[in-house]
Amino acid sequence: MYQAPLPTEYADLTPEEADARIVAAKKALGKRLVILGHHYPRDEIIKHADYRGDSYKRAKDASRHPEAEFIVFCGVHFMAESADILTPDNQIVILPNLAAGCSMADMANLFQVRKCWSELARVFGGKVVPVTYINSAANLKAFVGEHGGTVCTSTNAPTAVRWALTQGDKVLFFPDQHLGRNTGVKLGFDPVEDMVVWDPFQPLGGNTEEDLVRAKFILWKGHCSVHKRFTREQIVKARRDFPGVKVLVHPECELEVVQAADYNGSTEYIIKTVEAAEPGSIWAIGTEINLVSRLAKEMPDRTVFCLDPQICPCSTMYRIHPSFLCWVLENLAAGNVVNQIKVPEKVASWSRESLTRMLTVCA
Ligand code: 13P
Ligand code: SF4
Repeated sequence: MYQAPLPTEYADLTPEEADARIVAAKKALGKRLVILGHHYPRDEIIKHADYRGDSYKRAKDASRHPEAEFIVFCGVHFMAESADILTPDNQIVILPNLAAGCSMADMANLFQVRKCWSELARVFGGKVVPVTYINSAANLKAFVGEHGGTVCTSTNAPTAVRWALTQGDKVLFFPDQHLGRNTGVKLGFDPVEDMVVWDPFQPLGGNTEEDLVRAKFILWKGHCSVHKRFTREQIVKARRDFPGVKVLVHPECELEVVQAADYNGSTEYIIKTVEAAEPGSIWAIGTEINLVSRLAKEMPDRTVFCLDPQICPCSTMYRIHPSFLCWVLENLAAGNVVNQIKVPEKVASWSRESLTRMLTVCA
């Protein structure tokens, strides 16, 4: 989405000035404001969050702040949309920088998914159940709600997909092929025999009719550019350089990386696992660098480092900059709502259906 440039007054703030003004605006807003944060934004943002969590926690807890008039979401666009869908109409959800999207979520759009759906219906007479990763636009969650499917997150993908398989013959999983493949493998399916990849730019997604009829999983050709950087070779090197190291990666990584790791799970799982580890233990982590660096700082008695030596920030989460946070908070304190995320009710009602289904099925 387009974000207008910040007024010069905000663009020119020093880090210290932005920090002090955020604290003052928060104080002025008091209980009217709740700041929610995902684990990826930079420290200068996360220190101001009242609550932190992964996508599942944020969706589950969205309605737990009824006292707040304003929910400022320090994360990316799809997270703010989900918060808006799951909170009452009188709560206003704000994203500090509208350009903070998710490149993976942008890899599937409604036009492409509808086309895929009708092509599948033409070649296959049985029932396909759509499952969308929460990293997707609200209109895709609405599509899924309307077609009897569910949303999932990295925390609950196996439960959600297991449920989907009880509702039909196959699963159409979008937009992250890797989370879809890793989940299918966790449930005992074969990544080659049981799965095909749907490329939205190819006729029949680049498959034959026979392949589509045979497959149990149709995996959308999408990926996360941050998690795609992690490799099996990095894991081999970490094990060679740090005997006894434990490798912990996010399930948006490729299958061979997840299989070479010791553990995989959501950002919240990654944090909890390192927190629960023995002092002195060594952890090589495959996820976004801000989270890894924070873990290393917060737990100095464990050795924590990122698997990718080149460092891999999520560039869109990075757009949540203190100057933007300061700008939205000072506007709220002055009575102006800027950067509200409002999902149109027609889309919101069907997406609420698929998000609520996830919360029920995966409770
Ligand atoms: P989590 O739900 O695990 O926090 O993941 C969200 C995400 O975008 C990871 O790239
Ligand atoms: Fe999207 Fe990847 Fe950033 Fe997560 S890390 S928000 S999937 S681009």
